[in-house]
Amino acid sequence: MIVQQSQKAVKEAVALLAEGKLVVLPTETVYGLAADAANGEAVAGIFAAKGRPHFNPLIAHVANRAMAENYVEIDRVSARLIEAFWPGPLTLVLPLKQGAAIHPLVSAGLPTLAIRNPKGVFADIVSLLGRAIVAPSANRSGRLSPTSAQSVADDLEGRVSFILDAGACPVGVESTIVKIDADKAFLLRPGGLATEEIEKFLGQKLIRLDQRAAIEAPGMMRSHYAPQARVRINAQDVRENEALLAFGAERIAHAERAKATLNLSPGGDMQEAAANLFDFMKKLDLADVQAIAVEPIPSHGLGEAINDRLVRAAAPRD
Ligand code: TXA
Ligand code: MG
Repeated sequence: MIVQQSQKAVKEAVALLAEGKLVVLPTETVYGLAADAANGEAVAGIFAAKGRPHFNPLIAHVANRAMAENYVEIDRVSARLIEAFWPGPLTLVLPLKQGAAIHPLVSAGLPTLAIRNPKGVFADIVSLLGRAIVAPSANRSGRLSPTSAQSVADDLEGRVSFILDAGACPVGVESTIVKIDADKAFLLRPGGLATEEIEKFLGQKLIRLDQRAAIEAPGMMRSHYAPQARVRINAQDVRENEALLAFGAERIAHAERAKATLNLSPGGDMQEAAANLFDFMKKLDLADVQAIAVEPIPSHGLGEAINDRLVRAAAPRD
């Protein structure tokens, strides 16, 4: 059931979470499938609803830094990042505190916890509940992440009973994941906070972890974010039975062949493009479309996260 955001709806979400139920909540990045991080049955319910491999750890969402300190050890560099970028689309991987009230399923047995402070109504709900809420993107494993309540309903039909609708997610791609180790900063997943912004702030380059270091961020599986249609990235032309995901002012060859066309950002704005990405891929995933041709997208700013998601959507499927 989709429920419009209101004070009553927020209270209801908090009550359901406290009872160990799953609810779908909006964040500034994508919609999340939320559960009480201390409740093992609820956390297991997330894996079941998503059809997600159990080794894939989840992000704990907190209301502020003080709440984070209940769960993780915050080093000097991470503290600066928190100060600068929370609340917002930055997840930090930090050492889990001994005895923290986080069910072991959350971090899949790792000694670390991915933690973030989202913006908006989600943070209010964490505050009201008074403890961390885990939430992966509210889609079935391997599918597109949802940026609207309706996309969640389409994908998770029958698997969730409460979807809090706060409209479209302003950022549109998942959070950037960073891990600090001995003052070195590693990028585990590009996302809604541009890498350049973090690098500028820290005055150092982020070390990009090779995909093969998958165990560091097991969610970084090769084929992910896939619509039903095949995805052809950096397309130079449009072929028969293809839809076109365009970017910017100029079209590739034979754009007129496209069964449908959507432009991520006619003006070339990376932020607008990120916000539209998952929604447009879903809209172009039509019954008579064999593949979605995607125009080349520059990789500055949020373009890095956009291209990361596109490469995964285009990867060979199992
Ligand atoms: O924007 C977001 O981050 C959204 C919203 C709902 O908050 N959440 C999200 O969660 O994208 P999910 O579960 O789809 O992605 C979590 C990522 C995965 O790539 C996972 O492997 C990684 O975080 N991760 C979680 N815990 C980790 C840990 N301890 N060490 C390394 N990576 C971790
Ligand atoms: Mg996801």
